[in-house]
Amino acid sequence: MIVLGIETSCDETAAAVVDSDRRIRADKVRSQLADHAPYGGIVPEIAARAHIDALDGLITAALEEAGIGFGELDGVAATGGPGLIGGVIVGVMTAKGIAAARGLPFVAVNHLEGHALTARLTDDVAFPYLLLLVSGGHCQLLIVEGVGRYVRLGTTIDDAVGEAFDKAAKMLGLGYPGGPQVEAAARDGDAARFPLPRPMKGRPGCDFSFSGLKTAVRHAVEALPPGPLTARDVADIAASFQQAVGESIADRTRHAIAAFRERHAGGDTLVVAGGVAANTHLRFVLQTLAAAEGLRFLAPPQRLCTDNGAMIAWAGIERLRLGLVDDMSFAPRPRWPLDPSAPKAIFAGVKA
Ligand code: KG4
Ligand code: ZN
Repeated sequence: MIVLGIETSCDETAAAVVDSDRRIRADKVRSQLADHAPYGGIVPEIAARAHIDALDGLITAALEEAGIGFGELDGVAATGGPGLIGGVIVGVMTAKGIAAARGLPFVAVNHLEGHALTARLTDDVAFPYLLLLVSGGHCQLLIVEGVGRYVRLGTTIDDAVGEAFDKAAKMLGLGYPGGPQVEAAARDGDAARFPLPRPMKGRPGCDFSFSGLKTAVRHAVEALPPGPLTARDVADIAASFQQAVGESIADRTRHAIAAFRERHAGGDTLVVAGGVAANTHLRFVLQTLAAAEGLRFLAPPQRLCTDNGAMIAWAGIERLRLGLVDDMSFAPRPRWPLDPSAPKAIFAGVKA
C-alpha cells in the first residue's frame, strides 16, 4: 500500500509518500518561518495563503522523489484538524480533489494521531504504549491502545510546553521558534543559578502547567541589572528554565507510568513525540526515568518529531488497513481531541 500524506495545520506545508512496509519514499517540508518572522508569531491568513502557494509543488516533488505517479497511490491522507482552520481547509480540499479525480480513498487524519503513531512507523512498536506528546500547541500524556483508541491521562491547564519555550525565548531576546534556540543557549548555562519553580511537581495526577514558570522567567529577567542581557545571563536562565521543564515533565510522566501500568500490567514502552521531543535534555530526562521504571524508551528522529507529511501518510495507512475511510462530506475541524471523553484538567479546584 502506498499513501500520499498532506500536512497543513500549522506553519509547515508538507507532503510525503509512505508505504505499508514502513518505508518513507519521499518527505517534503516547506517551513513558513520566514513568512511569519516579521510579525513575531504565526499569522493564520498568511499561513493559509502560503499553504496554497506551496502545496501543489510539494506534492509533485514528493511523487517525483518517490518515482511514482498518482496512478500508483492507494490512498490520500490529509490532516483534518486540529489546527489553524484556513490551513487545514487547504490540505483537506487538495486531498479530496486528488482522491475524487483518481478514484482513491480519502482519509482525514487527526494531527495528534499522526504524532502518536509515528513510533509505529519508525520502530514498529506494538499497542499499548504510553505517549508523551509535547508540541507548540499540545502537552498531553496518553495511553495509545490502538488506532483511534486513546486514553488521555493528563493535559496542560494553560500553555503547551513548546509555547513556554517560545515565550521564554522571546523574553531572552532569542528568535522564533524558541525551543531550538533556548536549547542551544542552555548548553553552556548554569542551571542552578536561577531557582525557578517546578510547576505541578508533587501534585497528584498527570496534568501540566507552564504559565507560572513563564512568569518566573520574566521576574528573573526583570531582577537583573538594567540594560541588555549578557550572554551568560541568557545561557543561565535558559539552562534553569530547561531544567525546571524537565523536572516538571518527569514528575507528571512518573504518575502517568503508574496509571498506564494499572490499566495494562504488561505495558512496557514510553514514547515521546511532537516538536519539543527534539530537545536533547528532555530526551535524556525521559530516558533516565524510563530506565529507572524498567520501561523501554522510544523517541522518533527529530525530523519526524516536528510537523511532517510522513506521519500523516503513515496514520492514513494505519486507518486504511482497518477499512477506515472518510467521505467527501468530511468538514475540517479546528478542534479535535484524541480522547473526547477525557475529564478537563483541574487546578486548585478550578476547571480550566
Ligand atoms: O510539533 P511541532 O512542530 O508543531 C506543533 O504541532 O506545535 O512543535 C513545534 C514546537 C515549537 O514550540 C518549538 O519551539 C518546539 O516545538 N521545539 C522545541 C525544540 N525544537 C522544537 N522545544 C524545545 N527544544 C527543541 N529542541
Ligand atoms: Zn504537531
